[in-house]
Amino acid sequence: MPPARSTVETMRWRDSRLEMIDQRVLPGEVRFLTFDSAGAIATGIRDMVVRGAPAIGCAAAYGVALESLRLRHAAPKEFSDGLDAGFALLAASRPTAVNLFWALARMRDTWKRHHNDTAQQAASALLAEAHAIYAADIAANRSMGRHGAALISDGARVLTHCNAGALATAGHGTALGVIRSAIEAGKKVSVIADETRPFLQGARLTAWELAADNIPVTLIADNAAGFLMSRNEIDAVIVGADRVAANGDVANKIGTYQVAVLARRHNIPFYVAAPLSTIDATLTSGADIPIEERDGDEVRGYANHRWAPPNVAVRNPVFDVTPADLITALITERGVIRAPDAARIALHLRDEQHND
Ligand code: MRU
Repeated sequence: MPPARSTVETMRWRDSRLEMIDQRVLPGEVRFLTFDSAGAIATGIRDMVVRGAPAIGCAAAYGVALESLRLRHAAPKEFSDGLDAGFALLAASRPTAVNLFWALARMRDTWKRHHNDTAQQAASALLAEAHAIYAADIAANRSMGRHGAALISDGARVLTHCNAGALATAGHGTALGVIRSAIEAGKKVSVIADETRPFLQGARLTAWELAADNIPVTLIADNAAGFLMSRNEIDAVIVGADRVAANGDVANKIGTYQVAVLARRHNIPFYVAAPLSTIDATLTSGADIPIEERDGDEVRGYANHRWAPPNVAVRNPVFDVTPADLITALITERGVIRAPDAARIALHLRDEQHND
């Protein structure tokens, strides 16, 4: 069977610029926007041109690289101050996905290693590092896919929430990568996609990218998940993550927590697929994860459509935290952590260091 390659390209490096598919207008329009500075990338992240934790990390890395290229003819102090300002803009773009800060830390380390080089040399090294982060993300997703595919049975009907696919990563996807890999392994898998209000990542993005790859997908309203579970129409749940605390608590798209509660009630396995770059070992539990709240207009309507009274009060937390004890297994590029907790996650991270 040919590999179930994703046809979707989230971002691409062209003519010394980063092009990113504009995820705000999918699936109605497939358009790429071009970015040439850290500030432009930071705005693109904040405004959701690009979203999904690993994709945000890759975009931020390219943001630093672009800024260094822009400043490569500047005097040393101007280069250094300009790059610092670029880092600050990117770090302030969105707070929850730790991949952003992980990627910025890698870029800063690279810069430190090239501090005494010319700006031109430092810029080349930073661009090489951004390319490496991008390539490593695809490799991690493929590896996660191989580990996770073993958990998905032939014929499984798998519910997912939000978009943890090619569009949320450099390619292949985390949760959807597991599904793609299970299909590559010859299994018949169909997907039930929650629409994922308020930004509709499930309806607009997951449905679109799966259909583009001919993977069977059925869209449901978020509030239909419990009913389908009660009728034995869901065999497994798999989602991605924006940040995993040291004890295994998982921050992911708002609504993930209630899906996990429903899955437990119905004895349905609940899997989280996330690369090691999404694990934040500095946070003891999910209570410490910063949760982004976005503009109320995202709940009052979508894009230019408003259906709620214009001045109605709104709460719009865009992530929630699923406690580790509701998670059947956490899948990373290193393998599967069943019943994740602080001890198992620490062991998993240590194993990685030994094997690096
Ligand atoms: O607000 P978003 O669209 O950036 O949120 C994305 C999610 O919550 C994804 O599930 C998560 O980043 C995992 S992506 C592989």
